[in-house]
Amino acid sequence: MPVVRGKNIDPLFTAEQIAERNDAMAKQIAEGPTKDLLVIAVLKGSFIFAADLIRALHNNGLAPEVEFITLSSYGTGTVSQGVRIVKDIDSDVKDRDVLLIDDILESGRTLLFAKELLFERGARNVTIAVLLDKSVKRKEKLEADYVGFECPDYFVVGYGMDVAYAFRELPFVGVVTGDA
Ligand code: IMP
Ligand code: MG
Repeated sequence: MPVVRGKNIDPLFTAEQIAERNDAMAKQIAEGPTKDLLVIAVLKGSFIFAADLIRALHNNGLAPEVEFITLSSYGTGTVSQGVRIVKDIDSDVKDRDVLLIDDILESGRTLLFAKELLFERGARNVTIAVLLDKSVKRKEKLEADYVGFECPDYFVVGYGMDVAYAFRELPFVGVVTGDA
């Protein structure tokens, strides 16, 4: 089992499995609404997935504009949960086909917020691609259009995702199982 920063990490999805799913997702995305495509990656967790998926899109004939939005949840675990914009995109989304990219779809709050925001700003179409779907944790009525993997209800790290700012650099997705 890989040991990183003194912790055992149990791999859940390998770099090879992820690359294969990214290519399959890119093929699906290329068949959807892609006229004047604007890709918006939701930071920070999606940065590696977005980088790989965007190159897979290129390999499938697409030439999207790429933007980034940083969103943050507040009030986690309390009654008043919400999402706020930490850093906004620069582009106008009016009449654009937008593809939102995020690492994990869990409660659905983050991506529902983002999707509604983009429609309010006049986007023509908003689709969602996520690497992982933790569907058992869903609280909102929202599904992704493109999903890499159904994810068991573990806290996962790697491939852009962190726990306490660590492990984003891992080339695979794994679960921290304890001290090495
Ligand atoms: P939600 O769908 O709004 O509940 O939140 C999804 C967001 O929570 C993701 O974009 C991640 O930033 C974060 N998240 C949820 N589960 C995990 C995990 O297992 N590891 C790392 N981040 C997670
Ligand atoms: Mg996130």
